[in-house]
Amino acid sequence: MDAFTYRDGSLHAEGVPLARIAAEVGTPVFVYSATAIEAQYDALAAALADMNIGICYALKANSNQAVIATLAGRGAGADVVSEGELRRALAAGVHPSKIVFAGVGKTAGEMRFALETGIHQFNLESEPELELLNDVAAGMGVVAPVAIRFNPDVDAKTHAKITTGKKENKFGIEIEQAKAVYARAAAMANIDPVGVAMHIGSQLTDLAPYRAAYRRMADLVRSLRAEGHDIRRVDLGGGIGIDYSGDHIVDLATYAAIVREEIAPLGAELLCEPGRLLVGNAGVLLTRTIFVKHGSAKRFVIVDAAMNDLIRPTLYEAYHQIVPVIENAPESPHPADIVGPVCESGDYLARDRALPELDAGDLLAVKSAGAYGAVMGSSYNTRLLAPEVLVRGDDFAVVRPRPSYEALIGQDRLPDWLSPPQPMRRAAAGED
Ligand code: LLP
Repeated sequence: MDAFTYRDGSLHAEGVPLARIAAEVGTPVFVYSATAIEAQYDALAAALADMNIGICYALKANSNQAVIATLAGRGAGADVVSEGELRRALAAGVHPSKIVFAGVGKTAGEMRFALETGIHQFNLESEPELELLNDVAAGMGVVAPVAIRFNPDVDAKTHAKITTGKKENKFGIEIEQAKAVYARAAAMANIDPVGVAMHIGSQLTDLAPYRAAYRRMADLVRSLRAEGHDIRRVDLGGGIGIDYSGDHIVDLATYAAIVREEIAPLGAELLCEPGRLLVGNAGVLLTRTIFVKHGSAKRFVIVDAAMNDLIRPTLYEAYHQIVPVIENAPESPHPADIVGPVCESGDYLARDRALPELDAGDLLAVKSAGAYGAVMGSSYNTRLLAPEVLVRGDDFAVVRPRPSYEALIGQDRLPDWLSPPQPMRRAAAGED
């Protein structure tokens, strides 16, 4: 479903006019639709229903606790990659038995915390990590459930910065080393090797790489079993792409068919780790035009959202659709660059877009900003993190308020050797 539609000429999030949110909360602001998040979860769960696959939502896509709790309410578990994310999942009500801890560099402290919590599984990515977890678990007198992440060496055909399943990527253990590493894990007293995991990349719109990777994993599981290992679980990873530009929708039934054909016959307990698929198109970044500048070559629409709020366009050359909040505004013959106030040429949200005439004060919605938007935000240029709003039906709630300047600036501490700040002096003006 698209939760963002025009009603009476103005763009709404479900039943709430975005203009109302802008007026009451200010801009820039991320706006999410709870109904759209639930609809995506339900669609995936329905496609996979016959295989009884546990869906562990990858928190990295959007870790606002209201979003996590919305998904947990539907039955989702969590895929976390840091102690911080683990704490967020717990705080939002995800049961530890539904939490998978992934990531290439877990520290001893993080491992200890996860073991105390009693999570479902660690996904481990290297032999040193296996040794460290074995030591930490031994120190606590417990046994850690572990899936070993293998790298199937498959090209996911996505952006270079978000592909993970090739040998040259830092992720997982090369499949050629699988038998030796698995045997080592099985011999460790405080490791219970429960199965295998994989993740080949993010924003996959071509499903063929999944089939290739899952086939390799199934072969691996069979050969590990032939060596006597009890492979009980297979974690399928995440990465299913969403439609950013209106021309590429991944068919979940086709994805499910690949899993059904390649992996389900193994009879293992299955998990998957979707992030973007569940939340990406359920959010927009709402921003207000500050100025419009007409250069000789271009029209620059300077808005109050910037690369610190949504870094995807400049980091990955990512395309996000941008639409005016007022429908049918007069056409402009001049394409526009939508840029923010940050002092970098890379600070743009879109380039060369056909957009109507825009004036200061006009609102724009940057679409598909529900995943890897707010979570990748920063306060670069001492800009306040954009707040987050969750809409359900005709209601909305601020689920992360805009911080105050006092809170942001007050994080710094002056060392003893610097004198306390003085009120700014106007010595040059000769007032002393
Ligand atoms: N599992 C693992 C092990 C992962 O590394 C990731 C994403 C996921 C699951 C979830 O992938 P998803 O279903 O969301 O594609 N910041 C980038 C995306 C980075 C993805 C990192 N790993 C972006 O904005 O496109």
